Amino acid sequence: MAVVGIVPAGGSGERLGADRPKAFVVCAGRPLIEWSLEALSGVCDRVVVAAPDGYAEGPDRVRGGDSRSASVRNAVEAAPEADVFVVHDAARPMVTRDLVERCIEALVPGVDGAIAAIPMTDTVKEVASDGRVLKTLDRSTLWAIQTPQVFKADILRQALERDAAALAAATDDAWLVDDVGGVITVVESFPENIKVTRESDLRVAEAFLAH
Ligand code: CTP
Ligand code: MG
Repeated sequence: MAVVGIVPAGGSGERLGADRPKAFVVCAGRPLIEWSLEALSGVCDRVVVAAPDGYAEGPDRVRGGDSRSASVRNAVEAAPEADVFVVHDAARPMVTRDLVERCIEALVPGVDGAIAAIPMTDTVKEVASDGRVLKTLDRSTLWAIQTPQVFKADILRQALERDAAALAAATDDAWLVDDVGGVITVVESFPENIKVTRESDLRVAEAFLAH
C-alpha cells in the first residue's frame, strides 16, 4: 500500500504579511513547512509539496494552484502510485507523527476519509450580516476540523475533478470527498495543532516548538 503525503504550501500568507510565502517563514529555527514534512516523512513513502513559483523546483515539488484545493489537486496528480493520501497543511507545524498514524489507522473498510478534529469548546452562534444573533448551535455535535486529512486515493482523485470555482469554495478536502458520497470520520486531535494564520499564531508555534 503506497501512502503519499500531500502538503499544500502554495499560499502567499497574506494575513501573516511576511517577506516570503508563509510556508517558508522561519519558525523555531527552520522553515515552517519543515515541521510538517518531518512528521509526514516518517509515515509516508514520499511527500509531494505544492509550492509557489520560486519554491516549486526540485523532486516531489509541484506548483501551487489558484486555491488550496487546486494546489492539492496538482500534488495528487503527481502521485499516480498512491493508494492512500495524507493531506496536511504546511501551516500546521505542531502536527505529530502519532496523529498522522491514528488518521491512517482510522481508514478502515467502509471509511473513505479520516480527519483530525477537536470537539468545540466555544459556544457557536449563527449571526446575520448586520450582527444580529439568529440562533445558537448545539455544541455537543460540533467539531472544529484540522489537518491531517487522510483519504483512500481513488475517492480523493474523483473528488478533485471539479471546476476552479468549486475547488475555491471548498475550505477542506473532506468537503469535496463528502460531496461525492464519501464516508468521513473524525479522529480526535489536540488543540495545539493550530493553523498559523497571523503573526500571533507564529509566536505561539515558536514557543511550543522551541523546546
Ligand atoms: N495553500 C495552497 N495554495 C493556495 C492557497 C493556500 O497550497 N492557493 C495552502 C497554504 O500554503 C497553507 C494551507 O493551504 O499551507 C492553508 O491555507 P492558509 O492558511 O489560508 O494559507 P495562505 O493562503 O498562504 O494564507 P492567507 O489566506 O493569509 O493568504
Ligand atoms: Mg488562504
